Amino acid sequence: MPGDERTAEKPLLAALAGRASARIPFWFMRQAGRYLPEYRAVRQQAGGFLDLCFTPELAAEVTLQPVRRFGMDAAILFSDILVIPHALGQRVSFQEGVGPVLPPLRRPADLSSLSGDGLHASLAPVYDTVRRVRAALPEGVTLIGFAGAPWTVATYMVEGGGSRDHAATKRWAYGDPASFGELMQRLTDSTVAYLVAQIDAGAEAIQLFDSWAGALSESGVRCWSLQPMAEIVRRIGELRPGVPVIAFPRGVGAAYVMFAAEPSFSALSLDTGVPLQWAAENLQACRAVQGNLDPQLVVVGGTAMRDEALRILDVFGDGPFVFNLGHGFVPDTPPEHVAELSDLIREWRR
Ligand code: CP3
Repeated sequence: MPGDERTAEKPLLAALAGRASARIPFWFMRQAGRYLPEYRAVRQQAGGFLDLCFTPELAAEVTLQPVRRFGMDAAILFSDILVIPHALGQRVSFQEGVGPVLPPLRRPADLSSLSGDGLHASLAPVYDTVRRVRAALPEGVTLIGFAGAPWTVATYMVEGGGSRDHAATKRWAYGDPASFGELMQRLTDSTVAYLVAQIDAGAEAIQLFDSWAGALSESGVRCWSLQPMAEIVRRIGELRPGVPVIAFPRGVGAAYVMFAAEPSFSALSLDTGVPLQWAAENLQACRAVQGNLDPQLVVVGGTAMRDEALRILDVFGDGPFVFNLGHGFVPDTPPEHVAELSDLIREWRR
């Protein structure tokens, strides 16, 4: 019966399909992580951060922890965007207090050190995590798989870690677009293969994180952020039709309208700086949106957090809308504030 299918539809998937609903679905970027004592306990047991990502039993456990505690509408696979360079042979280590460290790729000749041959063998534990989480998920909760967008992953590969201005990456991209394009194509192809495998293991929706898209010029955004993301999503749509993809081109400002014009994206995740009313008129008019509470407001809590969350709900709540942050939780976020925010969203009605 057609009616049955509609009532059984998960709230997050309904919003990503463009349908507004009485209750607003929500999840939070970095909802699993160091702000939770139960995460820190498992992390200690695992040893290194990548060991945690590659131990399916533990990765599945930390994926589910926030959903158990706060009742979000989605679990996001616990992994990292840098498992792709790692699987291509550029070994990544996560250093306490520093973040990710990689041997930097600086010249076209360095690309020969990358190989996709071991991609699925290296990422098999991630697919196993997806299968375990999907099997253990509470009813109505959606499993989101993810990957980094090629530009953001490339910045870590070229800089050898995080950086303030992405100078080496931008100089390569602007100065020698042909060979930089080869790196981007390798990342695009690997990301398609990786996401299709996540979908086959049980991911029901995908988010693509382009965390550093906002560092690029207008034509840079078009060429190195929008175009590769759109290629990935179109190819996934051909191989595994019907799986919604959320694009997160963080920091691109008015260029968000270029992403809203790309029909393959189901939803746009908005960073904290995107003005609400402008986004409702120019983005949400044609696409589901997700966002965009400042994660620092959840550290502060109280009326400052509640007032801003209500403002966001008021502007976007006629839907299609997914409540989220404008970027991930920071480690000193008090879990009680997350509980209060979750209750506020769950109880909100237009
Ligand atoms: O709960 C979730 O959101 C799922 C898991 C997730 C992680 N990283 C876990 C993680 C997701 C979706 C990511 C994405 C990611 N990783 C991005 C894109 C989103 C964003 O934040 O902009 C980026 C740029 C990375 C790269 C990365 N991973 C950095 C720069 C760092 C170090 C900074 C830090 O917070 O320590 C990581 C490590 C990382 N990834 C942690 C977690 C929980 C902390 C590691 C620890 O436990 O010590």
